[in-house]
Amino acid sequence: MGEILNRLVEDCRRAAGSTDPVAGVQAALSLVTADPDTTIAEIPDFEGEDYVLHRADDLSVFLVRQAPNTAGPPHDHGMTAVIAMLEGVEIHRRYRREGQRITLDREQTAGPGGILVLAPRDVHAIANPDPTPSIGVHVYLGDIVGIERTLWDTASGEALPFTLESYESRVRAYR
Ligand SMILES: [Fe+2]
Repeated sequence: MGEILNRLVEDCRRAAGSTDPVAGVQAALSLVTADPDTTIAEIPDFEGEDYVLHRADDLSVFLVRQAPNTAGPPHDHGMTAVIAMLEGVEIHRRYRREGQRITLDREQTAGPGGILVLAPRDVHAIANPDPTPSIGVHVYLGDIVGIERTLWDTASGEALPFTLESYESRVRAYR
C-alpha cells in the first residue's frame, strides 16, 4: 500500500477517535479524491469486489469495485457510512423505511470526487450503469463485517439478515 492509502487509513483512524468523526473522515477522503489517478495507482491487484484497507471495532475502510452493468440489493449498514468515488459512477437508490418495509425514494449519482454520507438506518442500493468497473472508498464508523444488518429482496419486499451470500445472490443486471 502506498503513501496516500496509508495516510487515508491513519487519518480515518484519528477521525474515528475524534469528537466529529464524519467531518474527519470526509476531510480524509477529500485528499484521496483530489487526485484519484494517483490514489488508483496505489491500489494493489485484488480479486472480487472488496479490498480491506483497515478493519477494527470502531472503523472499517474498504475499496469497493462494482462490476460493470450491475445492481445490488437494498441494504442498511447499522453504522454511519461515508463513500467516496475514485473511478466510474455509482448510482445510489435511496429508500424510505417504514418498519420492515422500504419504498424507493430517490436516485443519486456519485461520480469521481463525489462524497456521500449515509446514516446508520439509511437504506440504499448501489448500481454501476457503465460498461467499466467503478472504484470507490467505503468508510464505516464501526466493524461493518461483524455487525448484524438488513438487506431487502426487491422481488418479495422481504427484509433478511445481511450476509455476503444473500447479497451476492441478489446482484442483477443494471437496467
Ligand atoms: Fe452499502
